[in-house]
Amino acid sequence: MIISPSVLSLHYDDFKNQLDALNESVEWLHFDVMDGNFVPNISFGPVIFSYFRKNSSLFMDVHLMVNDPEHYAMEFANKGAESITFHYENYNDPDECIKLIDKLHSLYLKAGISINPGTSVKDIEPLLNKVDLVLVMSVEPGFGGQKYIPSSTDKIKELDYYRKLYNLSYIIQVDGGINDQTAHEVLNAGCDCLVAGSYIFDGDIISNVNKLRSCK
Ligand code: DX5
Ligand code: ZN
Repeated sequence: MIISPSVLSLHYDDFKNQLDALNESVEWLHFDVMDGNFVPNISFGPVIFSYFRKNSSLFMDVHLMVNDPEHYAMEFANKGAESITFHYENYNDPDECIKLIDKLHSLYLKAGISINPGTSVKDIEPLLNKVDLVLVMSVEPGFGGQKYIPSSTDKIKELDYYRKLYNLSYIIQVDGGINDQTAHEVLNAGCDCLVAGSYIFDGDIISNVNKLRSCK
């Protein structure tokens, strides 16, 4: 199991201690990048990201919720991101998505595709043999602290089915409303990577991470 805390919910008034706790307890860091257009919220950009990069050797997992994912993918790649996930809804067109996936791979980046609650797994089937990661949004993107949308579980099961059927190896990641209850459900459905924000940062980080790990 990979745990990728969403630093959207990090307590920035205690940045160093929070990052120290993350560095000793998780594998990835998840950056929810929002431009105020693709989603009705603004988060952070490459400069804030660079402070994490300077102080952590964790795998940097960037989730772009922006109108121009190609531009910002390059910006974060230049600052040391290892993986870039963008939304199918940016293009709603597999061929356009494949162009960006190929560009990310040409820069030796991992490429992820994310689908919102209203988008089906069937829509991204043509991409499954191209991507390294599929991110199932289990809330409407834009804000932490929302409730898990139960229909997300069937999408995870469907992705796990296709992965076995086509003998593929993409990571299944879920993002939104993940806690020590919903983690059981998504892991049993075939999820490999948990993105959690409010659950992890609400209290002791290491203890909350360990509670998630015990959900498998
Ligand atoms: C929504 C964000 C959140 C965040 C996780 O756009 O992407 O899903 O990562 O927030 P929690 O874990 O608080 O639901
Ligand atoms: Zn995210």
